[in-house]
Amino acid sequence: MEFKGADILNAKQFNRGDIEAVLKMAAKMVPFSSKKKWGDLMKGKLMASLFYEPSTRTRLSFETAMHRLGGSVMSVVGAQFSSLSKGETLFDTGKVIESYADVAVIRHSDDGAAENLARGAGIPVINAGDGINEHPTQSLLDLFTIQKEIGKIDGLTVAMVGDLKYGRTVHSLSSMLSHFDVELIFVSPAELKMPEPICRMLKEKNLAYKETEDMGEAMKWADVLYMTRIQQERFTNQKDYEKHRNKYVLSRELVEAKNTKQLIMHPLPRIWEIKPDVDDLTGAAYFRQVSNGVAVRMALLALLFGKTP
Ligand code: NCD
Repeated sequence: MEFKGADILNAKQFNRGDIEAVLKMAAKMVPFSSKKKWGDLMKGKLMASLFYEPSTRTRLSFETAMHRLGGSVMSVVGAQFSSLSKGETLFDTGKVIESYADVAVIRHSDDGAAENLARGAGIPVINAGDGINEHPTQSLLDLFTIQKEIGKIDGLTVAMVGDLKYGRTVHSLSSMLSHFDVELIFVSPAELKMPEPICRMLKEKNLAYKETEDMGEAMKWADVLYMTRIQQERFTNQKDYEKHRNKYVLSRELVEAKNTKQLIMHPLPRIWEIKPDVDDLTGAAYFRQVSNGVAVRMALLALLFGKTP
C-alpha cells in the first residue's frame, strides 16, 4: 500500500509487506516510545482524536505518540459533547475536521464509522475501533509484540480465547495473521464463535484453524494465548453476558499446569479473564503490549506523513 496520505480503516488493506514495513518502522520508534528521546517528526502537525466510545490505551497511546514526536492533539471525548448528538453525519464531521487537523483518529460504536468519516475527510483517517468490526492498529501492535517477544511470527500456533464474535481485535488479528505461516485455534462458547466471513477468508487462503470450547486443550499447543474480554456492551440481554463472563479464566495455577512457555497476550482492559497472579509470569506480555502500542502508532503516523526518524 502507498502509506503516504492513506486511511487506515481495516486489516484487510494490509499485505505482508505492509505489515513488515510498519513493524520495521516501529522498531525505529522505540527510543521515542520508551521515553529516552523526544522527537520532532510530527512537528507542525495536528491530530484530531475523536473517541465516541470508551478508551484508555488506544486514545492515550495515539496522543502520546503524537506529542512525543513533536505534534499536537485536539480531542473530542464522548459523542454527547460533539455535533453527532445533534444528528450530524460522520461524513459532514469529516468535512469539518479536515479544515482543522492533518490526521484524524476515530473510535465509534458503529461498524464502518471510520470509513464514513474518511469519505468526508480529505486527510488520513485512522480506525481506532469501529463497533464489532475491526481494530487494525491493535493488531499491528499485537504482531509487533509477538515479533519482539518470540523473534518470529511464522511457524507459531496462536490461540484466541473468549468473545470472538463481538471482539473486534481478534477479527483484525486473524486477518493480519493470515499473511503468515501460522496455525490458529479459536476458543469460544458456541454462541460467540469467530464470524463466518473471517473463517471463509481463512479457508480461501488455506490457513489451518481449529474451533473448540476447551481452553485447556488449546493451551497445550499454543505458542501465543490471546485472551479477550467478553464484550458486555454488545449484549442486548445481560443474562447472556453473565452466562459467559466466567467461562474462560486464566490463573497462574492453570498456566503452570498446562504450559508455562507460552506468551500470554490481551488487548486490555481485562476484567475476569486473567487473574492478577498471572501478571508476573515471564510470558505475561499484556502490559508490554501497551508500550509497544505507542511505538506502532508512532510508526503509522510517520508512514502516513512520509517521514523517517
Ligand atoms: C479493545 C477494544 O476496544 O476493542 N481495547 C483496546 O483497544 N485495547 C478490547 C476490548 O475493549 O475488549
